Amino acid sequence: MDSNLGEVAKTNTVLLTGGTGYIGSHVAVELAMSGHSVVLLDNLSNSRASVVDRIAQITCKPVQFIRLDMLDYEGLCAVFEQYNFDGVIHLAGMKAVGESVEKPLEYYRNNVGATINLARCCCKYNVVNIVFSSSATVYGTNANMPLCEDNDTGCVNPYGWTKLMSEQILRDVARSRKDCNIALLRYFNPIGAHSSGLIGECPNDIPSNLAPYVLKVASGQLPYVRVFGNDYDTVDGTGVRDYIHVVDLAKGHINALDKLNTNCGLVTYNLGRGKGYSVLEVIAAFERACGRKIPYKFVQRRAGDIAICYASVDKAREQLGWQAQYDIDQMAIDGWKWQQYYVKNLFNE
Ligand code: NAD
Ligand code: UD1
Repeated sequence: MDSNLGEVAKTNTVLLTGGTGYIGSHVAVELAMSGHSVVLLDNLSNSRASVVDRIAQITCKPVQFIRLDMLDYEGLCAVFEQYNFDGVIHLAGMKAVGESVEKPLEYYRNNVGATINLARCCCKYNVVNIVFSSSATVYGTNANMPLCEDNDTGCVNPYGWTKLMSEQILRDVARSRKDCNIALLRYFNPIGAHSSGLIGECPNDIPSNLAPYVLKVASGQLPYVRVFGNDYDTVDGTGVRDYIHVVDLAKGHINALDKLNTNCGLVTYNLGRGKGYSVLEVIAAFERACGRKIPYKFVQRRAGDIAICYASVDKAREQLGWQAQYDIDQMAIDGWKWQQYYVKNLFNE
């Protein structure tokens, strides 16, 4: 275990796993800004240590970070020994769908293993409030739009199964321990970045998701966007998804923590905007944001894609008092700001 803490006094605080990642860094900012004390935990397999300083720069507060692989159960126990966590937000995991098809065992081992170790520690150290980052992917090919939390689930790739299995594990933990409160948050398509431009998504390889790919084209690192199919039954023939600003998504975690404090047991919420945008509408928003043409070409549909996917957000609005605020233009503006910072300052880090 590698920590920047040394010996610290026990304080009430939130453990944020995957805390240096794309979504985790934004959740860390929102936690700090809403008065929570937070400990970030990450093995840095898909993120950089420098983000810790950038989170501190945004929040003007010191940030505690522990470098640890969650598969190291003894190490995780040591972290729980060190603090009195009053809640855990579990985001650590591998998230590339294509890679999960090539390396299924790595995905099951890492994602399901991390969830089991975390749940074991929570039970052992009586940490009863847990927020888990699930995904709209658990709805599989369900075509009932908008997707509601009680719709059928089912997955089409190992990544999705790791999310559904983790949900089931946590559901069973909640059944076995009546004092346990767990929020399963099903994210739709988070894009954009913090308005400071200091944190955002930085994929190691060529991105497979639309927004980071568009940003690489916009900044001249890739020649054109491949639009996967223009013959879907949608507004312009291209795929429609429920994009949500990552800051809105991050804020949803604070509402979820508040909900857990009401002793609600196990709860499930979609975090989306409840509105779909097509691939061409997304490209147009990024063109407006960066003030230049973004070249694209239509290519074959991507295997496993569905035409349209968007959330029902009624339950989160009614029960969490949470609703996304930012529109697609703000997502593009903030994403572009971050991309410029990244190219200038972090590209060769
Ligand atoms: P990310 O890769 O940026 O962040 C995940 C972090 O987890 C990384 O920093 C990585 O180093 C860390 N990690 C992975 N395995 C670990 C382990 N064994 N021990 C400790 N740290 C480990 O991804 P993200 O986009 O921020 O996603 C966060 C979570 O949200 C993931 O669980 C992901 O599956 C889920 N999610 C993401 C999206 C999305 O579109 N980004 C959508 C739905 C769900
Ligand atoms: C994908 C995953 C999903 C995961 C989510 C977040 C698949 C099939 N689904 O969702 O499980 O939870 O990412 O990590 O991989 N597109 C292009 N060109 C590109 C990239 C994407 O046209 O280069 C299109 C897609 O066809 C889709 C839309 O853009 O219509 C969004 O794609 P993407 O960003 O990959 O997200 P999802 O497919 O919704």
